[in-house]
Amino acid sequence: MRVVEATHMCRICMKSPNPSWWGEREIHMRDQMTAPKVRAAKGGPKLRMITAYDAPSARIVDAAGADIILVGDSLSNVVLGRETTLDVGMDEMVHHTKAVAATNPSAFVVGDMPWLSYHVTIEDTVRNAGRFIREGGAGSVKLEGGRKRLPMIDAVIDAEIPVMGHLGLTPQSVHAMGGYQVQGKQVDAARELLDDAKALDEAGVFSIVLEGVPDVLAELITKEVSAPTIGIGAGPKCDGQVIVFHDLLGLTSGHVAKFVRQYADLNKVATEAVAAWFGDVQKGDFPSDDETYHMPEEAVRALLSEG
Ligand code: KIV
Repeated sequence: MRVVEATHMCRICMKSPNPSWWGEREIHMRDQMTAPKVRAAKGGPKLRMITAYDAPSARIVDAAGADIILVGDSLSNVVLGRETTLDVGMDEMVHHTKAVAATNPSAFVVGDMPWLSYHVTIEDTVRNAGRFIREGGAGSVKLEGGRKRLPMIDAVIDAEIPVMGHLGLTPQSVHAMGGYQVQGKQVDAARELLDDAKALDEAGVFSIVLEGVPDVLAELITKEVSAPTIGIGAGPKCDGQVIVFHDLLGLTSGHVAKFVRQYADLNKVATEAVAAWFGDVQKGDFPSDDETYHMPEEAVRALLSEG
């Protein structure tokens, strides 16, 4: 029997690691992912990052082998039904981070700092980042932007909180960018993004998300920085990839971006399952006798004779 790690419940088979209970069965334990381990993963097997916003989604992605779980501010669109990521605040982000962290995933949990939580003052920024750790149970935070955000990034790292950077098509800048457009397509803009990436790298971020940038630029940044890059709409040459949980599983509605590969249509599966239950209810086929609680016969007789 091979026990790889005997401190947590196995995320894949969901069994206890106690050998006396599981005999010869191999126990699929995974080591806890951390910020230094993510940083050290540069150039190795591709990093697997995905969003999750609650306990069920966190359990699914962790059992599937995620290295990093991002509690993204995409919470605003995909879970809370709002227009943009500008519409979610600190309390909501911390609330959902707590639900993800409560599952004790082996994956490393990153809390996504919402718009205005790191734009006002450095003190505010550190306090808000600290809330993701102390209240939310995350191991790090992500924030959008390049050199402009360096004072905030430095202060958060100084407070011993690992920071993930995010460059390119940064959705919190939707109005400043004039829409959701691929960034760095022309040489000057590409050079600016490369300089931003180098500055974040020097500041000590443990990884950098590259969103909505051309493949050649993402590849160049990946070669030039020591932190692993994690792409979304940034081509295949990044050190890892990230996707929104609901996009991958077909749980969103409306426009689907070019870089989304959908692996399931859970909207359809779930709608059919719910409709099937409604059908059984209306036909009187639910609940069956097996799905019903019963009293002992003497108690039934006594109850009915009293009536
Ligand atoms: O909020 C989010 O889901 C993100 C990813 C798209 C990187 O920031």
